Amino acid sequence: MALHPLVNIGIRAARRAGNVIFRSLNRLESLEVSAKGRNDFVTDVDRGAEAEIIDTIRRVYPDHGFLAEESGVSAGKSDEFVWIIDPLDGTTNYLHGFPQFCVSIAVQHRGRIEHAVIYDPMRQELFTASIGQGAQVDDKKLRVSKSKGLEGALIGTGFPYRANLKWLDSYMGMFKAVTLATAGLRRPGSAALDLAWVAAGRTDAFFELGLSPWDTAAGTLLVTEAGGRIGTLTGGDYQLGGEIVAGSPKTYEALIALLAPHVPEELR
Ligand code: IPD
Ligand code: CA
Ligand code: CA
Repeated sequence: MALHPLVNIGIRAARRAGNVIFRSLNRLESLEVSAKGRNDFVTDVDRGAEAEIIDTIRRVYPDHGFLAEESGVSAGKSDEFVWIIDPLDGTTNYLHGFPQFCVSIAVQHRGRIEHAVIYDPMRQELFTASIGQGAQVDDKKLRVSKSKGLEGALIGTGFPYRANLKWLDSYMGMFKAVTLATAGLRRPGSAALDLAWVAAGRTDAFFELGLSPWDTAAGTLLVTEAGGRIGTLTGGDYQLGGEIVAGSPKTYEALIALLAPHVPEELR
């Protein structure tokens, strides 16, 4: 099936950002700079990739709004369409040359996420979805895994850091419960790609606390279009940002039940 025009523009934007990211990775490796310098450099890459994305979209859709990690909200003439952008998801990995990061772009139409593009520049994998039309990686249809529960399941996660360290003790309870009940826990370090990999059945479920809208906007549509479920830690309706559980339907349910005793009071 032909891709929606909004998805095609999202792909063009994501590939351009991917090129900025990929090219600068080589520069990063050859640079000998201080930790602060490195951080500044990475910030340049994030900003440069985001500018590329917004510029590409604005040329075609000058009236659309944006919610982007580096530049914040910019309202369009009509806010019917808002592009939600994480130009580089997995900056800490990128900074170390750890090859797990992506570009994440979603289109929200009248408050609902309708299109998603996630591009992994290292593997050159392109994940796309449109609401009601399914999800794919390149030309291959995406389906969540067939896993029926926790036994033998591979679970993705993100460890709390920065402002979310307040939840570290609760998280350690979750870590122990999941480690004891499943085949293993992975912390790849790019929440958007973590969700894309649930959609692709590479992990059976994923959970993380304290995310932002641009981390999850595209990934959540990939998961639901691939037949998976998305919710809060307590199984409530997921609103963009905050805590999230995603997975194949049965593993999602089992994971929520397993995590329940460890959910911090303020997130119940
Ligand atoms: C981060 C990544 C990471 C997650 C963090 C995010 P960034 O995004 O998605 O996997 O654990 O919570 O902030 O800062 O690299 O765009
Ligand atoms: Ca992010
Ligand atoms: Ca980012």
